[in-house]
Amino acid sequence: MGFIDWKEEYATGVSVVDAQHQCMFELINALHDAMREGQTKVIIGTVLDDLVAYTKVHFHDEEVLMEQYGFAGWRRHTKEHQAFASEIEDASQRYLLGRPINTVDLITRLKQWLTSHILGTDQEFGPFLRARGVK
Ligand SMILES: [Fe+2]
Ligand SMILES: [Fe+2]
Repeated sequence: MGFIDWKEEYATGVSVVDAQHQCMFELINALHDAMREGQTKVIIGTVLDDLVAYTKVHFHDEEVLMEQYGFAGWRRHTKEHQAFASEIEDASQRYLLGRPINTVDLITRLKQWLTSHILGTDQEFGPFLRARGVK
């Protein structure tokens, strides 16, 4: 078992979104594995870079889908993305500036935000998009 395991309840039914969520889980699990093995310093910079880059792509893809199909909750959803994107960009900047990062707090926050966003906000567009033929 990983630190954050994929469960069926996380699925939105939109394949690109679900695959991207699973990739984000893998990144977080890689960080957790490194922490357990005392290798945090070796991997933290790469994981932060990957997370910043990957969340940008993922959030953009979701936002394009919502906008394209006229999903009413698009604006509120996008605001949640922006808030989280700046949080991880801040963490990445702190790391680049050589400031200490509490990786336990970071990984706990990543898991908490991602699971609650997927189970709450992302689930809202799943049925909407599927009803419009998006798979
Ligand atoms: Fe998402
Ligand atoms: Fe989202």
